[in-house]
Amino acid sequence: MAQINPSILSADFARLAEEAKAVEGADWLHVDVMDNHFVPNLTLGVPIVEALSKATDTPLDCHLMIEDADRWAPQYVEAGAGSVTFHVEAAAAPVRLAREIRAKGARASMALKPATPIEPYEDLLPELDMLLIMTVEPGFGGQSFLDIMLPKIRRTRELISKHGLELWLQVDGGVSATTIERCAEAGADVFVAGSAVYGAGDPAAAVRGLRAQADA
Ligand code: DX5
Ligand code: ZN
Repeated sequence: MAQINPSILSADFARLAEEAKAVEGADWLHVDVMDNHFVPNLTLGVPIVEALSKATDTPLDCHLMIEDADRWAPQYVEAGAGSVTFHVEAAAAPVRLAREIRAKGARASMALKPATPIEPYEDLLPELDMLLIMTVEPGFGGQSFLDIMLPKIRRTRELISKHGLELWLQVDGGVSATTIERCAEAGADVFVAGSAVYGAGDPAAAVRGLRAQADA
């Protein structure tokens, strides 16, 4: 079954606990950490992740869009994240980092920006619990889905099958009622949605609607 992870980036930051509760029933809560260096935007860090993890029963899927991932990612496991995604472009030693995240008790996930190919990382896939293919340039919510990423999603799904891995394949950016079916058809099984969930009148209903579409 498809997993839907609402992105808190599109929520009201002054009411984070309520906004997290508004999507209980979602599989994970996607938390976008940005440092104004790796991406041209600044959001939140370890203390807020720690507070959020106490405010909701939904496990946290932390997406780190930050430099020096090797140094910071383990701290997000300690802060209570159930899954930590680092960008391969920002990690000096991705294998060591993935192992450290797993050893600390979280799911280890690696993200690729749109211009980063999957092929050089084929041999790393067994070290990961999830691979994130960005379907927009990271940094902001509400951008248009990049259809040019569909072949990469398809190729990654083929690699996962070829190696017989349990790896989840996540897509993030511009995922909505009009694009989710294309992503699912290409082989994604975890869907991040920010504006499509928090921009809807009833965020919990939007989650159910997206899940039904992805599973159709
Ligand atoms: C973008 C973030 C996304 C963002 C998605 O850099 O990684 O998680 O919140 O927002 P939407 O779904 O509105 O594109
Ligand atoms: Zn994200």
